Amino acid sequence: MQRHLISAADLTRDDAVLILDTAEEMARVADRPIKKLPTLRGRTIVNLFFEDSTRTRISFEAAEKRLSADVINFSAKGSSVSKGESLKDTAQTLEAMGVDAVVIRHGASGAPYRLATSGWIDAAVVNAGDGTHQHPTQALLDAFTMRRRLVGRDTGLGRDLSGRRITIVGDVLHSRVARSNVDLLHTLGAEVTLVAPPTLVPVGVGNWPCEVSYDLDSTLVKSDAVMMLRVQRERMNAAFFPTEREYSRRYGLDAERMAKMPGHAIVMHPGPMVRGMEITAEVADSDRCTVVEQVANGVSIRMAVLYLLLGGNEPALSHARQPVAHHPATERVAPPTGSEEK
Ligand code: NCD
Repeated sequence: MQRHLISAADLTRDDAVLILDTAEEMARVADRPIKKLPTLRGRTIVNLFFEDSTRTRISFEAAEKRLSADVINFSAKGSSVSKGESLKDTAQTLEAMGVDAVVIRHGASGAPYRLATSGWIDAAVVNAGDGTHQHPTQALLDAFTMRRRLVGRDTGLGRDLSGRRITIVGDVLHSRVARSNVDLLHTLGAEVTLVAPPTLVPVGVGNWPCEVSYDLDSTLVKSDAVMMLRVQRERMNAAFFPTEREYSRRYGLDAERMAKMPGHAIVMHPGPMVRGMEITAEVADSDRCTVVEQVANGVSIRMAVLYLLLGGNEPALSHARQPVAHHPATERVAPPTGSEEK
């Protein structure tokens, strides 16, 4: 990982564990009555959202504000993008305003990479989801949630997901969440199985570091975490399965199916959930479902990522691989109470 976070595949195991450990420090800030650190005071971050978002946008904004950054929210609706302005012109406008980081969500796979490598802009670029390609902070918050639930809250380089069995179920074809999770979970030592109807399995999946199964029931019984995906109708231009009822019956998670999972196993969902389709209300509202926890963890992860990419005068993440116990992040994110911003 360099100055930008474009793909979960760019993260080394050390990078990923450093982000997860830094997020644990950040999570401690969230437990305080005053949830603010002065770390990014004077830095400007733009949230550039060309696609709809609830959780991701709010979560980035909360993370930026907790680090005291100046935040500018830009959504394509209501901007000159709807008048036909290009990504290049939008980027140059932001550059003229002197932004330090751009968090971008875009419907086109590759847009954040283009922004980071084009020379149009000098800021750090964080991918908040591009087309069907990548959503690296979602994979990081999912890994953080799994690590807390399945491994424990202690930090350190030995704390990865080695040997944990993770099943990802649903519309893998259109899911940037699935792609990012497969990459990161593999890096962290987990064994991933994708379960989907054959029509929703991407071509070339044989080269991905995971298994593929079409049988949910036989996979559930040996899973430590089961991640349900939404069927992304907005990205579909054909019928990929006969009926919703048929899809739910074969690939949806209801209480009866959930009961087949090992006692410790958790149910995850990146949101937004379509209750009654990929997940029943009973499962979504059960104690085993971590969907709300994932949202809370997302703020800590995004604080960690922004801190590590921009943190004070610290070098970029790729140059900052020091033993975690002595990493400046650990000292800086938990300043003595007196130095906190009130
Ligand atoms: C997902 C996304 O937008 O990629 N949601 C999210 O970021 N939490 C998944 C989805 O839209 O189904």
